Amino acid sequence: MDVKFYHCLTCGNIICKVVDSGVVPVCCGSEMILMEAKSVDNGLEKHLPHIEWLDDMTLRVKIGSEPHPCTKEHFIQMIALQTVDGIDIRILDPQKCLDERTRKEELAHLAQAHKEDKKCGLDLACRIEKLFSSKDGELSEVPVAWPEQIFHCNKKDAIGVYAYCNLHGLWHKSLR
Ligand SMILES: [Fe+2]
Repeated sequence: MDVKFYHCLTCGNIICKVVDSGVVPVCCGSEMILMEAKSVDNGLEKHLPHIEWLDDMTLRVKIGSEPHPCTKEHFIQMIALQTVDGIDIRILDPQKCLDERTRKEELAHLAQAHKEDKKCGLDLACRIEKLFSSKDGELSEVPVAWPEQIFHCNKKDAIGVYAYCNLHGLWHKSLR
């Protein structure tokens, strides 16, 4: 069965059906909108889940072929794995994504510095990387991150991965 995510255009509620009786859920006095998942990444920002099996029971999901904006106005809000047993939904927090990214960068930097056998001075430029984009001729800074989640499931039971961007909607990568 396809997973059905619904969206309320009034309050922003997002729900996922556990049992599908066929009735459309109602929120704020109106029927909720069934979100159609996109599976082709042709916009400026990239949203398709990228899959890497670390072993037969461990799946790493990374969103986008390049880092995605990571602000409370625009971020990857959810990553979910569908298996034959159900759905494992992870709710993401933009600040935590940035913190995790910074921590990974620090570790990579320390590892590199260690390799080169010299002291590592972690300054701000090294810790926080920003994406510079041009909007209306003006340079703006948008923090970006590469949201990722580790899931544990039997490889043969995995069905698909969903990602939800609060601006660009629902995305789906089939694992079958
Ligand atoms: Fe987006």
